[in-house]
Amino acid sequence: SREHLDAGKEKPARLAVIGYPVAHSLSPHMHQPALDGAGIDARYIKLEVEPDQVGRAFARMKELGFIGCNVTVPHKFEALAACETLDGGAAEMGAVNTVVFQDGEAKGYNTDGYGFEEAVRETLGVELLGARVLIVGAGGGAGGAIAVHCARKGVAKLVLVNRTLDKIEELASRLHRHHGGTEILTAGLDQGGLAKQAREIDLIVNTSSLGLKEGDGSPLPAGCFREGLAVYDTVYRPGTAFQEAARAAGARVGTGKAMLLHQGVKAFQIWFPGADPVSAMRVGLG
Ligand code: ATR
Repeated sequence: SREHLDAGKEKPARLAVIGYPVAHSLSPHMHQPALDGAGIDARYIKLEVEPDQVGRAFARMKELGFIGCNVTVPHKFEALAACETLDGGAAEMGAVNTVVFQDGEAKGYNTDGYGFEEAVRETLGVELLGARVLIVGAGGGAGGAIAVHCARKGVAKLVLVNRTLDKIEELASRLHRHHGGTEILTAGLDQGGLAKQAREIDLIVNTSSLGLKEGDGSPLPAGCFREGLAVYDTVYRPGTAFQEAARAAGARVGTGKAMLLHQGVKAFQIWFPGADPVSAMRVGLG
């Protein structure tokens, strides 16, 4: 994919990922091969944007004729505020990760939930409709987006688990109000009884940041895992304590960059309807 990034250098910059920091972003490694593969004369760049400067960055990209951008940490909330119009999912998640510039306006979308849905389908064969899902780390941005997407896709039951219970109570009552067909429960990490709750669950998802660092422990007690249970880790570092505890209990574990890949695919299709960038992006991600 380095070849692709170099080959793109003479092309006009038309798409970007904005973040702070942004140097580590893998998005150009997916989007540049997809652009090149589709014969689109555009370069996808990384733009470091400081906090409180997202609105200015949008204005500048509009002036320069950008097609759109991706938004990463910590700007997903600020980006929502800077958009003139919002897709329904992004509005409910309260976060934007994909923007289209059209007729001088910024329209915000959130493709993280779709990326998650495709990732659990691809790596675990799990369908969200009717599933019973437990999300640990639901107090973070990724967990919130996934929880909203699960409810919108008609999961039967959603158990939101977080170290800090306060951070998920508002999310839980909002989901409860808007998605009557989904049973919504909350639990703290320290309150016991989690293993018992997990027996009535089909899919456990880690959206906490635990596991990002070497030596991190598992966010869930080992008693939550069982033979055949589907488990997905949004931390894509292989061999985290969470993944190992799940495997030791005989659970099926989905990991890797599938979620990153599929949120990127959806973003690309928002910019270029009808495009099929999956294989070019898969190769680019390595
Ligand atoms: P992001 O927005 O990128 O998802 P975040 O806002 O830092 O990241 O959220 C991190 C999530 O991981 C939170 O749910 C956090 O729990 P708290 O809300 O209690 O802080 C969770 N998390 C981080 N470190 C943790 C730890 N050591 N044990 C349990 N949960 C942890």
